[in-house]
Amino acid sequence: MAEAGINPCKLRDLRRIMRVLTLSGIFSVKQAVYKLTTASRLLVRDESLTTSQQLSPFLYPQLILTPCRESPVSRGIHAWFRQDQPQPAGPSLFALAHSGMTTIWERAERDATAFPFDAAMASDTAFLMPIVLKDCGEVFHGLTSLVDVAGGLGGAAATIKAAFPDMKCTVLDLPQVVTKAPTDNDVQYVAGDIFQSIPPANAVFLKWILHDWNDDECVKILKNCKQAIPPRDAGGKIIIIDMVVGSEPSDIKHVETQVLHDMMMMVMNGVERDEQEWKKIFFEAGFKDYKIVPLLGVRSIIELYP
Ligand SMILES: C[S@@+](CC[C@H](N)C(=O)[O-])C[C@H]1O[C@@H](n2cnc3c(N)ncnc32)[C@H](O)[C@@H]1O
Repeated sequence: MAEAGINPCKLRDLRRIMRVLTLSGIFSVKQAVYKLTTASRLLVRDESLTTSQQLSPFLYPQLILTPCRESPVSRGIHAWFRQDQPQPAGPSLFALAHSGMTTIWERAERDATAFPFDAAMASDTAFLMPIVLKDCGEVFHGLTSLVDVAGGLGGAAATIKAAFPDMKCTVLDLPQVVTKAPTDNDVQYVAGDIFQSIPPANAVFLKWILHDWNDDECVKILKNCKQAIPPRDAGGKIIIIDMVVGSEPSDIKHVETQVLHDMMMMVMNGVERDEQEWKKIFFEAGFKDYKIVPLLGVRSIIELYP
């Protein structure tokens, strides 16, 4: 690590990248010692060869990989790994690659045509929520009110409201998202900040949110969620839809998808967590109990109790 100039504070991130590279066959690993595989030998120079011998194996893969190497994120990754990390987290790879913008939410606001983030999230919600209600609908039974925290354009809240018409459903998101929200549904929208406060409700719903944030930020968000709900014996709970890495270790395709997703989240200082990592932030935020149920593909539904 020291030889490569990698800052010790980036050790966890280095492990995340090595996890992807070993799963995809670029490295083999035995007791945290990584070795080149046949495939990755094509990517490195063999100094014992003459220049003409080096040409054929080395240069063609480099050419093929040009689009990846030239992306703004790839160009910044070298500097990012060498960076000292101020508390609680340094600038993300995204911020380094897009000077002047610190979060993808800013990009979604400024550049909606090239980067239709809110629409993409809405399409995922339209696909997933009917499955959530069909396979795990019981998690919503008995709730009188629910706030979808950072609920985007409100598709999830509207689907829950349609299935449970007596439930009061509210969506909290940033002002620039709430102004674009549809007006033809029976959902209330509140513009706000998840780090400030969350409107009170029987239950808080968090879909694809906590993986966007580092552990300290998640603990802050979860503490705010806890303040918004009543005690467990009065029906209070948090419902989370996110990944639990390694939850189905027998399915290698799921693990591959999860660790690739984790790389994507690393770009914005987020993280896909395994059960131990989830447990740590839950208990740090003051919650006492949780239940994980695999949902669809790589995602799980987590019920979290105060
Ligand atoms: C990954 S999207 C998930 C949206 C929605 N839950 C879904 O699954 O479709 C994250 C959402 O968090 C919102 N967000 C980011 N920072 C926020 C903040 N500080 N307060 C409130 N919402 C925020 C974004 O605007 C975005 O809608």
